[in-house]
Amino acid sequence: MDKIVIKGGRRLQGAVAVSGSKNAALPILFSSLLTDGVSSYTNVPELRDIDSTRQLLTHLGARVETEGHAMRVDARGLCTHEAPYDLVRKMRASVLALGPLVARLKRARVSLPGGCAIGARPINLHLKALAALGAEIRLEHGYVTATAGRLRGAEITFDTVTVTGTENILMAAVLAEGTTVLRNAAREPEVVALADVLSRMGADISGAGTSEITVRGVAALRPVAAEIIPDRIETGTFMVAAALTGGPVEIVGCEPRHVAAVVDKLREAGADIRVGERSITVTGPPRIAGIDIQTQPYPGFPTDMQAQFMVLMSVADGVGVVAETIFENRFIHVSELRRMGADIRVSGNTATVRGVRRLSGAPVMATDLRASACLVLAGLVAENTTEVQRVYHLDRGYEALEKKFAALGADIVRRR
Ligand code: EPZ
Repeated sequence: MDKIVIKGGRRLQGAVAVSGSKNAALPILFSSLLTDGVSSYTNVPELRDIDSTRQLLTHLGARVETEGHAMRVDARGLCTHEAPYDLVRKMRASVLALGPLVARLKRARVSLPGGCAIGARPINLHLKALAALGAEIRLEHGYVTATAGRLRGAEITFDTVTVTGTENILMAAVLAEGTTVLRNAAREPEVVALADVLSRMGADISGAGTSEITVRGVAALRPVAAEIIPDRIETGTFMVAAALTGGPVEIVGCEPRHVAAVVDKLREAGADIRVGERSITVTGPPRIAGIDIQTQPYPGFPTDMQAQFMVLMSVADGVGVVAETIFENRFIHVSELRRMGADIRVSGNTATVRGVRRLSGAPVMATDLRASACLVLAGLVAENTTEVQRVYHLDRGYEALEKKFAALGADIVRRR
């Protein structure tokens, strides 16, 4: 099993390009199921989750061709409406096949995604909203089965803001009869990117990016050629790496608007940040200041940046309080950071981080995607050597992260 080995203490400097967004690419690739044509996508990141999506689309009968960061999906010959356990268990986001399959094939059978390291992550809100659109929902043998005639528009209010829930129902509602209004909808840039692509396929959507989205159903959609937006979490991860190790690092090909909350917090921690049109340059302060963060749905501070910021607070001058309000179990990285000498106390959904002068290198275990990024960042500033194990978590959402860090001057390698 691969591990990443880092000798800490090097200052990162130079320019790094951001890849396409995992969390935008996944729903957009599943939206190809809504047409009986051939759609093409560029700036698709090369990730394990993209590969899992390719496998599921192929299992459903689509023909998928990939060449570097380009992907072509021919969804004319779908042969089944079932997303099996063996594929769904690899990637929870496979649940995003549900909406498009019910909308196009009038039925879907999708394995229920179990819980994951960061929380129970039920899909009850997806199912409740799909039922409101007229689908008959049955849960049996670990699968959800949804059947419907043509879906019917409805007024839906999500009890909690849910990103993939909003995306799933958007993809179901575009072919429904009549108008659907989604309230308390997610406002994430990935939702807006999906709505943009659906609109270019012929859907009639307004209000994406706000908490109220209106969808007027159409009879059919056409295939599309679309470019995937830059990954804002990868952007944020590089910004933290620059602030931690000194920089300056210029992050190119990113969308600065999408990381405004991260820019604000890094400035509060003392970093110097220059924002360009499609780039951000970060220079770290002599010593990071302790600050407080609280994760929130977009445009608040992203939960997918919480672990990376905890490393920052671990070496800060002073105390930082980190409150996680989205997932109930997203502090698993704390025990590994403590093994590296961090001083962190957890009480409920709040971690109080007292900065130490220096972390010390150690063998550590990654437990989920963002926790693995956090441990790599910790290794960049720790004394001596850190070995991050189970990096398959990292490969799910970061394209060649160690190579990108090495190009910025880090002493980092992947070992088999
Ligand atoms: C998306 O997950 C992202 N994944 C996550 O990124 C991200 O952390 C999360 O949104 C929050 O920003 C993708 O886009 C593929 P939610 P999602 O539904 O949609 C509860 C990463 O690291 N909830 O917005 O699954 C849920 O348990 C990943 O890239 C219900 O109770 O998250 C959570 O507490 C990790 N019932 C909260 O809502 C539901 O039916 C928000 O979850 C749905 C959600």
